Amino acid sequence: MTEEIRNGYEQADWQKHYDDNDLAWDLGEVAQPFVRLWEDNVLQPGTLIVPGCGQGHEVIYFAERGFRVTGVDYSPGAVKLLGESLKHKDLNAQVLHRDFFELETAHDQGYDAMLEQTFFCAIRPDQRPAYVETVSRILKSGGLLFGLFYETGEEGGPPFNTTEADIRNHFSGAFDIERLEKCSFSSEKRKDKEWLAVLRKKPENQTG
Ligand SMILES: C[S@@+](CC[C@H](N)C(=O)[O-])C[C@H]1O[C@@H](n2cnc3c(N)ncnc32)[C@H](O)[C@@H]1O
Repeated sequence: MTEEIRNGYEQADWQKHYDDNDLAWDLGEVAQPFVRLWEDNVLQPGTLIVPGCGQGHEVIYFAERGFRVTGVDYSPGAVKLLGESLKHKDLNAQVLHRDFFELETAHDQGYDAMLEQTFFCAIRPDQRPAYVETVSRILKSGGLLFGLFYETGEEGGPPFNTTEADIRNHFSGAFDIERLEKCSFSSEKRKDKEWLAVLRKKPENQTG
């Protein structure tokens, strides 16, 4: 096991993928489960944040549907690609060049929803409590965390394996689990390996 795999990625490791145009994780389009959630009226337009957004296919998809979207990524390569796509499409969305875990307090309770797509598996497992803390901080009470969690079934990472138990253990304190199921319409290479989750932030006085 290489040092990189044992320790996860630093910002420079991600940026190198953008420098080398090596974006193996990128589906090249919005992930179909998000299209389903939208078409099934699970989601209503509002403020939406997408951490670790990469090229931001989801940012674009939801900006086109009337959401006020904020994409966050700490790799300049991702920010540049998404900025160019938005400009090309003449679309409005905010793109922040930031470490998700260091979002300023101005973002606190600022979002109706957060979209998860290959970000939870991209961070080191020891950063997962900080993920839960940050999403709990920036969502409004009753806000939704929805997305896809990647069960790679493999050791090391990124991507780091995420099981159903991991999701329940990390999120059930601060979130009600409204939906958690193996996704039946994942992309071919993630078939049977994604958990589709719809989690609702509990009111502050009900967290435990
Ligand atoms: C596996 S890629 C996924 C990109 C995108 N979500 C997708 O599915 O195409 C992970 C992304 O998260 C970004 N990232 C990793 N850690 C981050 C952090 N702490 N704050 C912000 N972005 C981060 C990386 O720069 C990279 O663009």
